[in-house]
Amino acid sequence: MSLFLVKKSGPLLGEVDISGAKNAVLPILCACLLTDEKCVINGVPPLSDVFILIEILKKAGANVSYDEILERIEIKASDVGGDVSNEHEAVKMRASFLVMGPLLARNGSAKLPLPGGCRIGNRPIDLHLKGFEILGAKIKQEHGTAEAKCPKLLGGYIYLDFPSVGATENIIMAASLSEGETVIENAAVEPEVIDLVNFLNQMGASVFCVGNGTIKVTGVKKLHGAVYTVIPDRIEAGTFMAAAAITGGDITLKNAVYEHIKPAAAKLAECGMAVEETENGIHVYPVGKRKAFNIKTMPFPGFPTDMQAIFMSVMTISKGTSIVTETVFENRFLQADELKRMGADIKTEGRVAVVEGVRKLTGAKVNAPDLRAGAALIVSALAAEGQTEIGEIQHIDRGYSHIDEKLRRLGAHIKRIEEEKEGKK
Ligand code: EPZ
Repeated sequence: MSLFLVKKSGPLLGEVDISGAKNAVLPILCACLLTDEKCVINGVPPLSDVFILIEILKKAGANVSYDEILERIEIKASDVGGDVSNEHEAVKMRASFLVMGPLLARNGSAKLPLPGGCRIGNRPIDLHLKGFEILGAKIKQEHGTAEAKCPKLLGGYIYLDFPSVGATENIIMAASLSEGETVIENAAVEPEVIDLVNFLNQMGASVFCVGNGTIKVTGVKKLHGAVYTVIPDRIEAGTFMAAAAITGGDITLKNAVYEHIKPAAAKLAECGMAVEETENGIHVYPVGKRKAFNIKTMPFPGFPTDMQAIFMSVMTISKGTSIVTETVFENRFLQADELKRMGADIKTEGRVAVVEGVRKLTGAKVNAPDLRAGAALIVSALAAEGQTEIGEIQHIDRGYSHIDEKLRRLGAHIKRIEEEKEGKK
């Protein structure tokens, strides 16, 4: 098992380049299936989730080439087959379900493994399937697969019970090649959803966010190829902001978008850090001691659930009592037990956690329970006395590229210990 060894690190100092956003890259790569022309996507970081999705796109019939150094992907889906149900990789990564909308729209049918739930919640897909049905698809769920069939999708009116990011993205992609107008009410409007909309419109789609969570799509007959650069990753930016806060550091996040991290900036201001927009990114620096603050996760523009665990790490050493309310997922405090092994004082009850700031954390052997909880352990380990050993870091590699190198460049004491490959003696 690969590990991160992290030692208490002084204030982080310097500049860090923020990579392309994982949660924009994944739907945008799926959208490339909507055309038989070549698409070129820039700003695609070498994440394990990207490699998994590339395999699924190839199984669907696309020709994919990825230049990891340039972080550029070229995709040409001359013709696509709708059945990727035997692609076991698809079960490993929920976002692979985002190929359903494009395959249904392009091919008239799509069959995928039902995406696994994961440890943060059971992650249903009822809103995705409801949207496809309203567009005219016949849905069948059996033997752990979901199948949607419709020779010609027709626009419709869809109200989402929850502003689901994935359901919004899947429905927009299906509707973009349907006949007529689709209106999605109570849609997700996260920056990553807007990035997908911008890419689709570059391809010749007609998708408009008309405000207060309403998105209108006028279907077109065909979409063409496009060249596109993905937005920077606001969750990676938030992760480095938290690392600066917990070490009292002074860093600049290059090419991060201030508009996308306003909730995080507001919370850091409450806990004694300044966050300022500069011409090439965002400057984060201390203006006092870390003080307790509260977080309530909400769909955008509320505080993002993906930053909850990372900011809880900052709370563990912030003076006073902090309260976290997680409204998006039902089980997203998996970092709490691991942080308590490092001396944090956290009590959780359902969707609420109460964090008492402690004088210091101490290094311990911990394991990353999931992607963002794993990132939270790195953040806390930077402030913990002694050394912390973080296992199960494959979860972290899903959503962060070169995180140890980026942190080392800021002065962090972190190194990756690769597991012995099987048979290498
Ligand atoms: C996306 O997941 C992100 N993943 C998640 O990031 C993020 O936490 C989440 O949006 C919320 O912002 C990608 O974009 C690849 P949802 P998604 O559908 O689309 C319920 C990370 O760490 N729901 O907005 O799966 C669901 O149970 C990951 O990068 C239904 O009830 O999230 C949850 O409670 C983790 N029915 C809520 O909506 C449905 O059909 C939010 O889920 C779909 C969702």
